[in-house]
Amino acid sequence: MNDLSNLSLEVTACHKCNLSSTRKKAVPGMGPFDSEVIFVGEAPGRTEDEEGKPFVGTAGKILSEALEFAGLDRSSVYITNVVKCRPPNNRRPSKEEKESCSNYLKKEFEIIKPKIICILGNTAYGSLLDGNEITKNRGKMIKRGDQWYFITIHPAAVIYNPELKQVLKDDLKVLAQKLESKIS
Ligand code: URA
Ligand code: SF4
Repeated sequence: MNDLSNLSLEVTACHKCNLSSTRKKAVPGMGPFDSEVIFVGEAPGRTEDEEGKPFVGTAGKILSEALEFAGLDRSSVYITNVVKCRPPNNRRPSKEEKESCSNYLKKEFEIIKPKIICILGNTAYGSLLDGNEITKNRGKMIKRGDQWYFITIHPAAVIYNPELKQVLKDDLKVLAQKLESKIS
């Protein structure tokens, strides 16, 4: 059993915060351990909660489409969330919930050692880089310590504003180019 499988089992059985009492299934991150990039969303939605897999609902379809546009194979990238259980009615996860869950994300980063962490939307931006105003800062690469981050919008934003679909696609294309190039 490798480290990622162990982590996934730990998440599946986790009761560290109150979201464990309302979730159907916890949603561990998914993807290969040697992925060069980790995509970080906010929290599972309804479909993810039912299936136990990240980004498999409407937002997931938008993400898949943008990945394909960028020439990134979804099965070769790692996809996860700031919190691994669905907040009731898709409310934003609370500070306590994010803090309770943060060690899992930290471990995912340590095991995979991605070249780039791709932040999807304000929740991940706030949690990982203390950032806000994603629409002003998207499309940028940022280095913190030894780690590169790429910032873009959350795929669900496209549901409410269809014009953002091309923004997400173009951003992921830039990300794909950064992955190809020698960033340092
Ligand atoms: N939105 C997220 O942030 N994560 C998912 O897994 C699905 C929708
Ligand atoms: Fe555990 Fe995270 Fe789920 Fe809370 S959200 S129960 S900390 S896995």
